Amino acid sequence: MQSQSTYNYTVVRQFAIMTVVWGIVGMLVGVLIAAQLIWPELNLAPWLSYGRLRPLHTNAVVFAFGGSALFATSYYVVQRTCHARLFGGWLPALTFWGWQLVIVLAAVTLPLGMTSGKEYAELEWPIDLLITVVWVSYAIVFFGTVFKRKTPHIYVANWFFGAFILTVAVLHLVNSAAIPVSLTKSYSAYAGVQDAMVQWWYGHNAVGFFLTAGFLGMMDYFIPKQAGRPVYSYRLSVVHFWALIFTYMWAGPHHLHYTALPDWAQSIGMIFSLVLLAPSWGGMINGIMTLSGAWHKLRTDPILKFLVVSLSFYGMSTFEGPMMSIKTVNALSHYTDWTVGHVHSGALGWVGMVTVGSLYYLIPRLFGRTEMHSMKLVTLHFWVATICIVLYIAARWIAGVMQGLMWRAVNPDGTLTYAFVESVKATYPYYMVRLLGGTLYFSGMLIMAYNVFRTVAGQKPTEAVIPAVSGAQA
Ligand code: HEM
Ligand code: HEM
Repeated sequence: MQSQSTYNYTVVRQFAIMTVVWGIVGMLVGVLIAAQLIWPELNLAPWLSYGRLRPLHTNAVVFAFGGSALFATSYYVVQRTCHARLFGGWLPALTFWGWQLVIVLAAVTLPLGMTSGKEYAELEWPIDLLITVVWVSYAIVFFGTVFKRKTPHIYVANWFFGAFILTVAVLHLVNSAAIPVSLTKSYSAYAGVQDAMVQWWYGHNAVGFFLTAGFLGMMDYFIPKQAGRPVYSYRLSVVHFWALIFTYMWAGPHHLHYTALPDWAQSIGMIFSLVLLAPSWGGMINGIMTLSGAWHKLRTDPILKFLVVSLSFYGMSTFEGPMMSIKTVNALSHYTDWTVGHVHSGALGWVGMVTVGSLYYLIPRLFGRTEMHSMKLVTLHFWVATICIVLYIAARWIAGVMQGLMWRAVNPDGTLTYAFVESVKATYPYYMVRLLGGTLYFSGMLIMAYNVFRTVAGQKPTEAVIPAVSGAQA
């Protein structure tokens, strides 16, 4: 009876703690590969080489850190807004242990050089099958909980989480289709330019649904909660939801400009990317305007600072992305560090900051405390992280534009002005700045880990009782 009347916080706690752990691991690898670009001697062994650690970094930060954050927050939000315990008995636990197993297998196989070679989908087919099992279980738990809700309607955050879960399932199944030749090697079911198109349809929608829609779900719950205000416009939430999920689907070809992909397909990708600015900013404006009447709280509340600054970076990267998708701009930015700067303004600024802000809200509530052990450390973390992001992305922008201009510079007789290696040499100072920024962001995560440890140590995990009658959402 007890378990029927309380929320399932166990799995939320597990995923929340692992978010911090994987954040530290993934960012440590990020710092290491940033250092390897400056000091190649750090490629100490084949399994410690840049080429193998780079996918380890992306998998660890996107799927282990970001993924655990999405599991934790979606499980919390769906229960609180539906007034229902998670559906599926032991299934939520299976998703936790299954996802951790996927991460550990990735951490072993990628350094060993086992890879499908598809960016953000590098894991080999047996792990892909395990991901499918975990993801289907996740969908059953999430939609089962929505289905048995006691509240009259489905809060908008759940629309975003639901779209993220469904779309990632489709993306994973289609893009991972492969023909195994051994336990550790398979070849894509697609060939040539079709393979590239499927891969970037997947890749861009991984950005749109894994790194965006799910985190918008987080934003739609935690910003109103922390600000103590209802979401600014419920109608705008719904309109930008449908516009966003429709438009993202078509934007993938902007990753394949000036390739063998037919020109008309590249143009479609560009046009849909430009259109994408509107729904993206719809979400940002909705989040920021939620603070109307509560702006003064920003002065004193570091958690709100994390959440609002994350939205600013979301707005910035979703302005930059459409600009970079314009073919003539992409002719300059593609292959340069500008892309890496764009990635990290989204990744560190949007995904990282909204996750950290949401966890600072969530963790005390999961462990029976009113707030984090030290709010001063939360403030310190905020400033360390913000300064780091500026260092990281400004260094990438300058380096990227410089590289693009150096590569296209020609002498009056038509020969290239610079050898490639000269552009690499010119990039070194900016690699140093990135390393400094990245190390700072990483140290922010260590501050967080200490604060989380002090918050939860010696605390009894909280059990929250589900309200008996339906009504306003919690
Ligand atoms: C309106 C939204 C966005 C558009 C139209 C957009 C567009 C673009 C473009 C044109 C590129 C460069 C492709 C190339 O030259 O290879 C790119 C790369 C990338 N973007 Fe975005 N972007 C958007 C938002 C975001 C956000 C919010 C994030 C992260 C949270 C993100 C993550 C990435 C990643 C990871 C790549 C690198 C892919 C790779 O080559 O590995 N983007 N994006
Ligand atoms: C301490 C923080 C971090 C550092 C120092 C760092 C460093 C790096 C470095 C050095 C690269 C390789 C760039 C290159 O090939 O030139 C990279 C790539 C990447 N990182 Fe990070 N990173 C950090 C945090 C994150 C986070 C939190 C995310 C996502 C949530 C992320 C997502 C990515 C992605 C998607 C790429 C591939 C970009 C592309 O292919 O264009 N990183 N990172």
